[in-house]
Amino acid sequence: MNNFATVILAAGKSKRMKTSLPKVLHKAMGKTLVNHVLDACFSSESGLLICVASAENKDALTKAMPPETLFCVQQEQLGTADAVKTALSLLQQDMIKNVLVVPGDMPLLKKETIRELIRIHENEKNLLTVLTGIVKEPFSYGRIIRDSKGIIAIVEEKDLRPKQRQIHEVNSGVYVFDVELLTRCLSKINKSNAQKEFYLTDSVQIALKINPAKNKKGKNAVTRKVDTFITNYGEECLGVNSRKDLAVVIDILRKRKLQDLMDNGVTIEDPSTTFIDSCVQIGKDTIIKPFTIISGNVAVGEKCEIGPYAHVHENIRIADQVCIGNFVEVKRSVIGKGSKAKHLTYLGDTTLGEKVNIGAGTITANYDGHKKHPTVIGDGSHIGSNTVVVAPNVLGKNVTTGGGSVIPAGKSIPDNSLVYGVPARVIKQLT
Ligand code: UD1
Ligand code: CA
Repeated sequence: MNNFATVILAAGKSKRMKTSLPKVLHKAMGKTLVNHVLDACFSSESGLLICVASAENKDALTKAMPPETLFCVQQEQLGTADAVKTALSLLQQDMIKNVLVVPGDMPLLKKETIRELIRIHENEKNLLTVLTGIVKEPFSYGRIIRDSKGIIAIVEEKDLRPKQRQIHEVNSGVYVFDVELLTRCLSKINKSNAQKEFYLTDSVQIALKINPAKNKKGKNAVTRKVDTFITNYGEECLGVNSRKDLAVVIDILRKRKLQDLMDNGVTIEDPSTTFIDSCVQIGKDTIIKPFTIISGNVAVGEKCEIGPYAHVHENIRIADQVCIGNFVEVKRSVIGKGSKAKHLTYLGDTTLGEKVNIGAGTITANYDGHKKHPTVIGDGSHIGSNTVVVAPNVLGKNVTTGGGSVIPAGKSIPDNSLVYGVPARVIKQLT
């Protein structure tokens, strides 16, 4: 989009999180909070991306944000209005017309909602459009104060009058501003509030004064240019201010992911005990059994069966018709079509060919105390129960290992052989 910018606010001190890691870099279902926000708010066509950081967290944020991000540093955390002020010169210099302002701590925002907010702002030629939501527990959020014609103010929790506490429409903290209006608002916002901070929320009242609803001839002749878009999903307004909020958000993201997988043909036998990261891909007709955790960069094919009690994590490619059974951990591995590891196994840094059968209790010993090493097991191999393959190692195609075999590191096993013992020796060539 031309003349459009997105400003992510991330300079806050995160006092309520009690953390040394910047709040927005905490993870929810495998992804940092700010990366969830970016998924909803930013794409390469969205125009300028600006991140407001603090002097302390800028370096850490730089690593998490897309390379095209421009950073502004807020020296002192004086409030959300002060944070946006640090981005003003960039917005003016780049002739930006409208700017989307988003707190970096709101991982539940949806792409569709942000798109609609921007569409309304542009179609209605608004000067300020506030994203709001109706929530069950409005405590700690800014409340939306309305008169018969629309929004007239946002009042923060600590500044509420007793009656206003009953209001369930809250401020998401997400806005689209006309940059000229934003500039005028920011020059007028002061700290006369309970927290002695510069509140960005004061922009509503200031903007309405700058742009009164009435024209000279009478009431309502000019539409207000300050408006709201109420999302259908109040949960989107949830910001992560504490560890408790983080747990709530993780649970919502987890359920959303499971719903999405089920909508796309994956069976989740027990959603309440299944944890699958947001970025995991799973093909249709795969069955996920209870108490299963799949995390990190993982792709699972079609018609697989994973679990119960399986832990599949970090850079995994699983082809179709694979079975990963109970108490099996798979880490940084590739599993070929039709292969099975059904019981009590650890496969780490391992590449399995097609139709490999891994017996119960098999371990690929990938760590020598200093480095991780790879294991390769060829197509059609049968690994006997309790085999230990000490990596690095390559087992050829159609290798059979006897139960309890220990295959020492670096001892490649040729195709079509039967090996047995501790350490395992080739007994005979099978064919
Ligand atoms: C803010 C809103 C509140 C809204 C809520 C929604 C204000 C005054 N209040 O409150 O109306 O309901 O979000 O989640 O805006 N930040 C800075 N610099 C600062 C202060 C904050 O960059 O000086 C950043 C924070 O890192 C955070 C975002 O701005 O990402 C919002 O700040 P936060 O302190 O979380 O505001 P809330 O109290 O949640
Ligand atoms: Ca917040």
